Amino acid sequence: MTEGEDMQKILEVKGLKKIFYKNKVPFVAVNQVSFDMVAGECLGLVGESGCGKSTIAKIITHLTPPDAGSVLLDGTETLYKKGKKERELYTKIQMVFQSPQDSFDPRCSLGDGIMESMRNRGFRKAQATERMYELLDMVELEREFALRYPHEVSGGQCQRAAIARALAPEPRLIICDEATSALDVTVQAQMVKLLQRLQKERRLSLLFICHDLALVQALCDRVLVMYKGSIIEQGIPDEVILHPQKEYTKMLVDSAF
Ligand SMILES: Nc1ncnc2c1ncn2[C@@H]1O[C@H](COP(=O)(O)OP(=O)(O)O)[C@@H](O)[C@H]1O
Ligand SMILES: [Mg+2]
Repeated sequence: MTEGEDMQKILEVKGLKKIFYKNKVPFVAVNQVSFDMVAGECLGLVGESGCGKSTIAKIITHLTPPDAGSVLLDGTETLYKKGKKERELYTKIQMVFQSPQDSFDPRCSLGDGIMESMRNRGFRKAQATERMYELLDMVELEREFALRYPHEVSGGQCQRAAIARALAPEPRLIICDEATSALDVTVQAQMVKLLQRLQKERRLSLLFICHDLALVQALCDRVLVMYKGSIIEQGIPDEVILHPQKEYTKMLVDSAF
């Protein structure tokens, strides 16, 4: 990457905190989490189940309000925005979930699901359809998949369609929350390849949330290691894997390789 615009920070997360109450006892799920992403970067977020990864994703995408902190997108605060400004944000940040079926309305074809955001933005039917076919090409799905329903395709195929759906509004950032975790190993490898290609070709920024350090190493430029709500270590995946600094990270590396 070159200096200047290319190194522009796309996402700045500062001092995020989230407290949940379990039987009226406060529990800090996310504790003073701060990190940045530059445009075109693929950032991995790893850590065991329950450490707070999805909560961070949900705060960034406004599915959960934080108790403290701020989230800047292209230098502008996104939290506490409402109405039109909030809708604009949704076109800039898209999410792909663990269960691809969750991204789609079971009563709608995949093609209609992919076109939904375009129709909401006022694309004409013909224009949206053409772009939907291009998106299917992009994620390497046959165009006939447009007519299928979520329950009529495999997990991997549905996840490809979910990626096409996420790409439709031309987002700046895609958050994949365990997007490959429910897939079997060979399909997982294909998805990583696809994400890698899309990320390079489209200069997408990708926040790749995953508990599998090996996948993060294959895909990401940088990794954050989370433990019990905090980021305890970060760096280039190869470095972190070769020279883990924290006991927890060592354990994570040992269990992954
Ligand atoms: N809506 C909620 N109400 C209460 N506790 C929650 C809620 N969402 C998540 N938690 C708790 O917060 C912690 C972090 O959850 P989560 O962010 O989903 O972790 P991860 O994605 O890393 O597995 C967990 O202990 C979880 O039980
Ligand atoms: Mg999670």
